Amino acid sequence: MTAGIGRERARPAGIMSRIDTIRKIERSLVERRVAAGLATPAAAPDAAAVEAILDRHGRASEQIIAILQDLQEKRRYLPEPELRYISRELDIPMTRIYAIATFYKAFRLEPRGRHEVCLCMGTACHVRGGERVKDAIERSLGVEAGGTTADMRFSFETVRCLGCCGQAPVMTIDGKIYGKLDHLAVGKVLESHT
Ligand code: FES
Repeated sequence: MTAGIGRERARPAGIMSRIDTIRKIERSLVERRVAAGLATPAAAPDAAAVEAILDRHGRASEQIIAILQDLQEKRRYLPEPELRYISRELDIPMTRIYAIATFYKAFRLEPRGRHEVCLCMGTACHVRGGERVKDAIERSLGVEAGGTTADMRFSFETVRCLGCCGQAPVMTIDGKIYGKLDHLAVGKVLESHT
């Protein structure tokens, strides 16, 4: 599916120089708006971080998926200002970038909590009380599966099988496995993550 993504067309030098000028003006306008308090710093992209990622991938538009993966690894999701920056630098339309980001389930467009809670709802976990554990997590966090707590401490997801059915019911927090859970133990495990 990457074939043809954002393929660069050769452009005359004069046009490229005008595009560079426009980009510089855009960047300076954003910086001035932030400095004047008309935009929040969050609205400005972390240009240094994105530049490092782009350079790592040779600034090649064909590497857009790997570039988005690196951005998500750094920021835990795909922030819009950074996506716009990438769109400009690689000359890839935002619609194309959003199409990729929404096609792959692994990409996230919303900010995530500091801790990722992932509860298995596969068959083995389900028959050993997974549903009650799920209720306990939702009660404890105050969000349903798929949500993030207001204090950005936890994001909570359910999955089909974590591959350790012998320890059912199972959840992971930031990749660490917690097995043989019951609805009473869940609160303590969550509490231990600040
Ligand atoms: S069904 Fe839960 S780990 Fe496999």
